[in-house]
Amino acid sequence: MALVTSREMFEKAYNGGYAIGAFNVNNMEIIQGITEAAKECQAPVILQVSSGARKYANRTYLVKLVEAAIEETGLPICLHLDHGDTFELCKSCVDDGFTSVMIDASSKSFEDHIALTRQVGEYANDHGVVVEAELGTLAGVEDDVNVSAEDSSYTRPEDVQEFVERTGCDSLAIAIGTSHGAYKFKPGTKPQLRFDILEEVSRRLPGFPIVLHGSSSVPQEYVQMINEYGGSMPGAIGVPEDQLREASRLAVCKINIDSDLRLAMTGTVRKFLAEHPGEFDPRKYLGPARENIKQLVKHKIINVLGCDGKA
Ligand code: G3H
Ligand code: 13P
Ligand code: ZN
Repeated sequence: MALVTSREMFEKAYNGGYAIGAFNVNNMEIIQGITEAAKECQAPVILQVSSGARKYANRTYLVKLVEAAIEETGLPICLHLDHGDTFELCKSCVDDGFTSVMIDASSKSFEDHIALTRQVGEYANDHGVVVEAELGTLAGVEDDVNVSAEDSSYTRPEDVQEFVERTGCDSLAIAIGTSHGAYKFKPGTKPQLRFDILEEVSRRLPGFPIVLHGSSSVPQEYVQMINEYGGSMPGAIGVPEDQLREASRLAVCKINIDSDLRLAMTGTVRKFLAEHPGEFDPRKYLGPARENIKQLVKHKIINVLGCDGKA
């Protein structure tokens, strides 16, 4: 099995009423935790690399680790660039063997956004790589860019047909109330995604795969663990899992999750080190962190995405 694009995954997911998990990866333990879960569940999976992750690990290591995961699991895995912001970055990832890239030009004017997305699409498609674009702006933090709630905007369904036709993108990320990071909704409010926007978008783009960013649910078990063992994360609240399950039954084919993995890893490491103050072997705390990432991803695959058994 080699790296695959998400084209066939999305076609099956759209028709089957489930979604593929797109999990952010930064190191070996995270890749192992995710792919061991996917293997046990026989689930297709997308591993995504942000520009920050690529800078952290350098451009070679993550690609090689993902290739190792394919060899170990025999699963169809798509390697995706998350939030590419320039043509050069997207091109570099295509040249490195990524099978999918996101061009995130949503901060530009509509015409510039279309032009850049189209330019990336032409290069990527010519090399057998698919392209995700984004319309609408999510609140929250991605890399070093912090978008405040006031500057975020829901996707306008009346724009999507023209945008998809003129850019030729292969999937579209939309803003329906999710946001990046661990602080998505105000404490005491009732989180509610805008299913009316999702339904109107998919009515205008029948059969077209939709992507949700910012879809961590912020498990309170790990927030409490972090708070109990020296951290401080008051008011960390995520997207309700039942709403993500509902979205994956509709046109949403890719659901992005990063913060939940970070919480699982950090909570586990904090607890372990607090309980074993004399321990200094990284394998002793990274091992349990990897195991908890695996259990979390299995939970997502079975209870949120519905893609178990679909590899
Ligand atoms: O949407 C952003 C992802 O969570 C990646 O985060 O840019 O800090 O690697 P990062
Ligand atoms: P979370 O911060 O909700 O995990 O979102 C991750 C994401 O959208 C990566 O692109
Ligand atoms: Zn994102």
